[in-house]
Amino acid sequence: MNETLDITITKADQSKLTVTDFSQLPFGKVFSDHMFIAEYDNGEWSNLQVLPYGPILMSPAISALHYGQAIFEGMKAYRQADDKISVFRADKNFERFNKSANRMSMPAITHDIFMQGIAALIDIDEKWVPAQEGYSLYIRPVMFATDPYLGVKPSDKYTFALLTTPTGPYYSKALKVKIETEFTRADEGGVGFAKTAGNYARSLYPFAEAQKEGFDQLIWTDAVSHEYIEEAGTANLIFVIDGKLVTPSVRSTVLDGVTRDTIIQLAKKAGIEVEERRVSVKEVIEGIESGRLTDAFAAGTAATVTPIGEIGYQGKVYTLADVSTRTVSANIAKTLNDIRYGIVPDEFGWNFVL
Ligand code: COI
Repeated sequence: MNETLDITITKADQSKLTVTDFSQLPFGKVFSDHMFIAEYDNGEWSNLQVLPYGPILMSPAISALHYGQAIFEGMKAYRQADDKISVFRADKNFERFNKSANRMSMPAITHDIFMQGIAALIDIDEKWVPAQEGYSLYIRPVMFATDPYLGVKPSDKYTFALLTTPTGPYYSKALKVKIETEFTRADEGGVGFAKTAGNYARSLYPFAEAQKEGFDQLIWTDAVSHEYIEEAGTANLIFVIDGKLVTPSVRSTVLDGVTRDTIIQLAKKAGIEVEERRVSVKEVIEGIESGRLTDAFAAGTAATVTPIGEIGYQGKVYTLADVSTRTVSANIAKTLNDIRYGIVPDEFGWNFVL
């Protein structure tokens, strides 16, 4: 169904564009002039608005703050070679958002609100989509429970919002990652596959501990044996072993990454064999030692394709093949960017051109 929605537009009095330095865009710190909001009550979404970005009034009793009913997504709008704006794989993020909503006992957002909200917001903030190579307008859909009620139950009221922030890559250099074998990110039957706030909250302490040891990011392992690699929390993980693209399969503890899926499809099209399966820590460490593992990278919307330079495991640091030799990830990253920026035809129909 494609019904044109009634979205109230209130323009900001002044744009922050003139005071924004597009050469200094740390991830998620600078927000565009407007945001989109919709409210859920009595079983339906209403009050759709594009309004100036800014604080919103909330009760300190809202259940999102107490019991964590909060989900989000991450997607990007690109300024294409012909100056059109396109959002990459918006449908896939929409589907995942509602999977997260379902698991967290939250209402589904409609396709029309999700897509037309993005279109309306980007239409008004079009100048916020950067033109520099490697840059984009990151879109953050978020939904949170707003019942001012302290009983433990799914909220009856929710706010859905879309925020946008112009950005470059989340990581600026090859990562030094630690394979985490004490703390866990997710367990079977839990919410690891959902993009829900608590998954990120629980990762902060182990991440801070790893940072003290000089690591940039964690590689999470399974919660039962710590023998299998899952994901990095901010991104999925992909390895090249014996020339094959090998990535931990998506399961209840691993986020079904849009960039991961995109890379798998691009690799298959390029004739590279892809294995989605359990990947053991042992295999990765032995692969580095024997030279059979020739590439490893984090793949995510924010992270894009970020090479892993070093892996720490049980007190030892293993150095991977020099990044300049990583042709598999470099070629895939180039093809991916060429599609996103409209440099080559979008054969897969991934660009939602506005
Ligand atoms: C994204 O890649 O969009 C994410 O949500 C990761 C974020 C937590 C940095």
